Order: sequence, then C-alpha cells, then structure tokens
Amino acid sequence: MRIQFDPINLYAGMVGESHGLTPAELRIARPEALAALRDFQAAARQDVYGFPHLPFQKSTATSILDYAEEVRGTYDTVCLVGIGGSALGAWALDCALRGPHPVQGRFSKKFPRLVILDNVDPTFILDALQSMDPRKTLVCVAAKSGATAETVSAFLIVRDWLENELGAKKARKRIVAVTSEHRGDLKEMADSEGYTTFYLPENVGGRFSVLSAIGMAPAALIGLDIKKVLAGAAEMTGLCWKKDLKVNHALNAALHHYLILTRRGKSVQVAFPYSNRLWGTAFWFRQLWAESLGKALDKDGKQVNAGQTPVAALGTTDQHSQVQLYMEGPNDKVFTFWGVDKFENAGGIPKVKTGRAAFDYLGGQTLAKLLNAERKATAAALTAQQRPNCAFTLDRVDEVHVGAFLQLMEFETAFMGQLLNIDAFNQEGVELGKKFTFGLMGRRGYEEFSQQYKAYEQKRSKIVVR
Ligand code: PA5
Repeated sequence: MRIQFDPINLYAGMVGESHGLTPAELRIARPEALAALRDFQAAARQDVYGFPHLPFQKSTATSILDYAEEVRGTYDTVCLVGIGGSALGAWALDCALRGPHPVQGRFSKKFPRLVILDNVDPTFILDALQSMDPRKTLVCVAAKSGATAETVSAFLIVRDWLENELGAKKARKRIVAVTSEHRGDLKEMADSEGYTTFYLPENVGGRFSVLSAIGMAPAALIGLDIKKVLAGAAEMTGLCWKKDLKVNHALNAALHHYLILTRRGKSVQVAFPYSNRLWGTAFWFRQLWAESLGKALDKDGKQVNAGQTPVAALGTTDQHSQVQLYMEGPNDKVFTFWGVDKFENAGGIPKVKTGRAAFDYLGGQTLAKLLNAERKATAAALTAQQRPNCAFTLDRVDEVHVGAFLQLMEFETAFMGQLLNIDAFNQEGVELGKKFTFGLMGRRGYEEFSQQYKAYEQKRSKIVVR
C-alpha cells in the first residue's frame, strides 16, 4: 500500500509568507501535533473512540461475509436506506470500487448494483422504487440512532413496497438492519420482525462508521472484498499511531491544515480528486470534515466557532467550472489534490496525424498522463497565484488503498479536532433543526418546538420589505 502526502506547496517558499507556512512555524507547532497524537491514542485505548479499532474487528466482518454468502445470487439490487454517515461511506466504496454511477456497466452483470435512498424527495424515492424489482432486491436499512426521520420514512415506504409484492413474511427475510445493539426503535422493530441485523459499536460515530457494519454490510452485499478494504485500513491504522511525521501522513496533514487554517485563515478546504472513482469519497470527506470540525465551543467551553468549510471539486471537470474563482477570487482556500498514480487502463489516445495542432500532440499519449499532467499543472498555476495547496497521491484505487485512505482521513480529522481543542465526535449543531422538524411533523414530546417554530413564522410575517 502506498499513499503519499506532499505539503511543499503550503510553504512560504512556494506561495509567499502571507499565505504559506514557514519551517519555523512547523517546528514550533510539532509538539502540539505529538500531544494530539498522544491524547487521542490514550482516549482510543480506553475505548472512548472506536473507529481506530474497526479494521481489527474480524468477527463482524466474518458474520457479514457469511450472510452475504448465504444470500448470494438471490438479488440483483441492494437498496440501502440511510443518510449521512449511514449512506456516504457505502457510496464512497461503491463509487471507488464499482465505478461512479451511471457507468458501472462492466460490473453490472456480475455484481448487484447499489441504490442508495438518502433523501426524502418523493420523486427520487418513487423513481428509485420503479427502477428496482422487489423480487430481486435486498433492502439494507442503516441508522445508528434507529430514529432518523428521513431513514424511517423512506424505510416504511420500501418495506410496504416489498410486502405488497412478497407478503409480510417473505419481505422480512429480505431486510437487513444495521443499527445500535442496545437501543433505538429500529433495533426493536428488527427484533420483532426478525430481520437479519448487524451492529455498530456505540463508540463509533456515524461519520466515522464506514469500516463498521454500516459501510461493510452494503459493501459485502454488492460483492466487494471487505477483507481487503479492512486490511488496507488496518495497515494505515498502524502508520497513524507513529510519531514520525514522515510516515504518519494523517498527523502531518492535520498539522499543516491546522496551521494553514489558524495562522493563515484559509477557512475553505477544496478536496480536489483527479479521479471519478474518488468522487464519492470526496462527498464522504465533506461530511466528515464539516460535521466533525464545525463547532461553536472548544473543550473548555469557550466560544470559538471553529471549522473549515470543505468543498468537493473534481479534476479535471471542475477546472472548467471552479478554477477561475480559485485562481483569482478570494485567497481564503487551501487545496488538497487527490491524485492516482496507476490506472487499471491508462486509456491510450489513438495516434493520428491530422495536420491539426490541437489534435496531433495528443495522439499516441494516454488519458492517465493527461489527467495527471492537468493536476500538476493546476497545482503549479495555483502556486503561482500564491494559493496554498497540497496533495495526497494513491498508488491506485483498489480495495486496499481505498480502505487505507478512508482510515487516513478519519485519523486526520480526529487529530485536527485535537489540535483545535474541539470535540470532533459530537454534532449538537444539527439537533435544533431536527427538533423543529419533529415539531412540524407532530412527533409526541416535541410540542415545544412546534410552538417555537410558530413564533419564528410570526416574526417573519412582521418583516416589511419595501
Ligand atoms: O455523523 C453522524 O453521526 C451523523 O451525520 C449521522 O451519520 C446521520 O445523522 C445519520 O444518523 P443515523 O445513522 O442515526 O440515521
């Protein structure tokens, strides 16, 4: 497994002192990084945080694989009902290892496809149902809390759709639930209806759960080799506990991103994969970085409103959409390129001699070479404009590297949380909106929020716009 981190274009020597870091700043802050590592490791050892242990939990993987083996060949579609951390990890894996929708053609005859219902747009849900055959669909409902309104409502519709076709008894055999072992209404329902159920540990937060049953169950059900994914993540975990910043890319990247955010005010991070297969991972990362680091208070209760806004951009596609802004707009961003060294097929461009300058130099070269040339060229251009940027490079996009990269990103986020002195593992900020929704939808116990919402509407109605 080979993943590299290149921070050179974050340095003042490349982008100037106003935007880049000095070696002295790095040297002075290094003890903070080592303290972050030490503190996080101590907490993980005491099981406060569970994600570092997931690659080593062999029994969960084994029971998922046994079940996948048992049901193999009985379905052509896995319908995943989940949202946030209960959907994005599965999408990242599916996109990386089966290909981005809708170009999964090469795999479509051999393996089941994955349909992810992660929204409650009625048109989307109804279109999705029409695209699936209930007799050939296995439903996987995933929710750590077992109570997320979007997941519960979509699941009730999907369950009904299955039951109408198969009858209640058979439908229950086609539903897999992934949730918390000791709490929640989904767990209760799964038990009473007899669904096959897998659990994720309580100390693993939703956005850190891709390597738990939340990500591994749908991945195994579409035929991915989850043992290899976990092996890559296990190897990366070993590196993430090292003190040597040259090998611990997660800690090194966290330190650089921490300094570029807090010392140079780069409040936006653009995750810039040059690989369509890593596009799902970029969206998974967006949630991880945003929800983990966007916090009002630090661990001492001081108001800090911490965070860095993650943006996903796709190379080269977004060079023709976003790069004008990135080059000439506000210099408030740091760019993290995600490159891939080796593609399964480099994509040879036919050798032609047409006598046309725009065509002939490309003939005989490869798409992989062009893609990587454009990534390097964009990095150089941003650097010339004093826009700090760095790069992760994966040797290839396969199970081992994707597992390793997901784990690297989770460690980086955890270390960043330590450096910022915030709790990267809660998400209080999403609760108020959820409570208003419960109030608006008439959930018992949320009458107070329904009242608060009415007051808000009244306040709105008094605003006069001339
Ligand atoms: O990171 C988190 O905890 C959240 O984003 C959750 O993943 C998301 O809200 C979905 O929660 P649940 O799995 O309980 O449906």
